[in-house]
Amino acid sequence: MDTIASPFIDIIAGARPNFMKIAPIIQAMEARKRQGGRLNYRLVHTGQHYDARMSGDFFTQLSIPHPHVNLEVGSGSQAEQTAAIMLGYERVLHAQSCQLCLVVGDVTSTMACAIVAQKCLVPVAHVEAGIRSGDWGMPEEINRRVTDAITNFFFTTSTMANDHIRNTGVDAERIFFVGNTMIDTLLANLPRLRPPPFWESLALQPRSYLVLTLHRPSNVDSSATLSRLLHTIGAQSRGLPIIFPVHPRTAKMLRSLDSLPEHLHLVEPQPYLEFNHLVRHAKAVITDSGGITEETTVLGIPCLTLRNSTERPETITLGTNELIGTDPANLKPYLDRLFAGQWKQGEIPEKWDGKTGERIVAILERLYAP
Ligand code: UD1
Repeated sequence: MDTIASPFIDIIAGARPNFMKIAPIIQAMEARKRQGGRLNYRLVHTGQHYDARMSGDFFTQLSIPHPHVNLEVGSGSQAEQTAAIMLGYERVLHAQSCQLCLVVGDVTSTMACAIVAQKCLVPVAHVEAGIRSGDWGMPEEINRRVTDAITNFFFTTSTMANDHIRNTGVDAERIFFVGNTMIDTLLANLPRLRPPPFWESLALQPRSYLVLTLHRPSNVDSSATLSRLLHTIGAQSRGLPIIFPVHPRTAKMLRSLDSLPEHLHLVEPQPYLEFNHLVRHAKAVITDSGGITEETTVLGIPCLTLRNSTERPETITLGTNELIGTDPANLKPYLDRLFAGQWKQGEIPEKWDGKTGERIVAILERLYAP
């Protein structure tokens, strides 16, 4: 392992939604280094996601440098993955400790590395801190709460997230409302978005197809639930093509289904530039993701979320998202409204302006390399 010059921070990434969140922070750090900034970083990939489609493609497209360390933990149960990441990251810190461990989002890697860092006396910064769904049935909610309980510096996407953290007794000086790094990546890459190869073979036209993503265990881990979801969506989509990039978790279950709606097009998980091209030109997006609801809000695309709760309420109160619940029967009135051309117009939340990475790095420099 290369030795990193001090002062330096560890930047942790493990799973697909982490990569678009770290890219602008790394770019802002590189820019500051070119201007004489002293703060360095060590990029640690836990290997939670490892397929090119789930990881490598994002590094290439978003120009994220090759990680200094890859823990290569791979798949496993929640406990297996958490334990493997903790063992691996502890070894990294024992080999060379750092001034700060920066984690992003709410995946298993986020929580596991935060715990290890604190126990090795390394302070923790959490990007996207303070958001709460209240749904303990999702591992991400547990990851968020555990991480925030042991975080020193909180970087938030909304003032509501600040309030959640303040309500746990944290001093305001440690909470920074900086905006949304995922949106930095989206805005920076808008001119580079490009159609996937099947755009032409499926004869896709702007606003004449739907995008579907499903990967939450509650939606995809039972074949009966998944089948009902897909058939109901298929029956209510007015014959429009439904483009369905299939997450590996969902792919396993799809193999056991007898039939699929005719105009449902299963495609591989898409790289960043192709996926967001699809979203930007879609009639609407139907999803159980959290991050995608932020992207559709900024792009002004109608979004129907197949979950019972959201940790991102601003995508509903300000943005173009609606919470449908997990019963696909609930879709009908929303799709009626969509096809009647009566979907709400959204607005963009405060500080989702493409400059969040720079704000975070300015604060980190003030703290660790003044
Ligand atoms: C994880 C995150 C979730 C995030 C999602 C995005 C947690 C708890 N969940 O869920 O918040 O929205 O990533 O994708 O961290 N697999 C592959 N190749 C890969 C990665 C995974 O085939 O590169 C398969 C494995 O069979 C694995 C399954 O997908 O068992 C699920 O992967 P895992 O990382 O456990 O959780 P996700 O469902 O991807």
